[in-house]
Amino acid sequence: MSSSSPFRNVASEVLALRASSFGAEAAAYAEERPDYPDDAVLWALEPVSGRAPLRVLDLGAGTGKLTGVLLRHVTDVVAVEPDAAMLDQLRHRVPGVRAMAGSAEGIPLPDGSVDAILIGQALHWFDLDRAIPEMTRVLTPGGVLAGLWNLDDDQVPWVGRLKEVARSTVSFSRWRPESISLEGPDVLVVENARFPHGQRRTVESMAATIATHSHVLTLPADERAELTARVIDYLRSTPETAHGEFELPIVTVVIRALLH
Ligand SMILES: C[S@@+](CC[C@H](N)C(=O)[O-])C[C@H]1O[C@@H](n2cnc3c(N)ncnc32)[C@H](O)[C@@H]1O
Repeated sequence: MSSSSPFRNVASEVLALRASSFGAEAAAYAEERPDYPDDAVLWALEPVSGRAPLRVLDLGAGTGKLTGVLLRHVTDVVAVEPDAAMLDQLRHRVPGVRAMAGSAEGIPLPDGSVDAILIGQALHWFDLDRAIPEMTRVLTPGGVLAGLWNLDDDQVPWVGRLKEVARSTVSFSRWRPESISLEGPDVLVVENARFPHGQRRTVESMAATIATHSHVLTLPADERAELTARVIDYLRSTPETAHGEFELPIVTVVIRALLH
């Protein structure tokens, strides 16, 4: 497999800081971030769904949001996550699941030991030149590698404006998950699909969700407070969001690569 990162032009120290920022607000992450829809997860697993047993690795598993959905469909799930605070949340919220410290560049599993690797909202943080050979190592022949991203649907005008309001001084330029290339000699086919869904939010919970994003977590405290105040002002003055609960439109983008 060959690969391209959407952040090729960003310094590696900046990427490392952003990639490791989530544990500072691990409990808030678990409370506020959206879940993944079942149909997106089932689509990712579809090429290997006939296998028994079906062994699935949730890589960069965080607080276990994707792990929990996977366990509704698969019994043999292992979660791997590098951040100790995120892993603590996962063990607390998804009790009994096999959960291990490790990273995409150093997966603590034997060769050919899983049929699918699913990656929620994390593939873009991996050092793909090292992670892709490592993921290929632990997959069985014909296995599946899939990245999933929950994206706020910024085609909806009030969501598009919210994204502008919530930009910070450290935000990266816009990128699309589909810009990550998983094509290569080990790969038979790469496909992608989109699954619309939503999350009930209020002004306060929406602001709390945004505060768990790495472009906010890595800001100095005063800038973080200013950004949150700006977001709250915007939501309170926008007709779609000002009055009680509202539905945040989300699209889950899935990219799956099927190995030879
Ligand atoms: C945005 S969170 C996503 C967590 C979870 N998968 C989810 O869908 O909610 C990104 C996660 O990727 C993890 N991460 C960052 N760099 C990683 C790497 N090189 N290998 C594995 N996980 C990594 C972070 O610690 C964090 O838990």
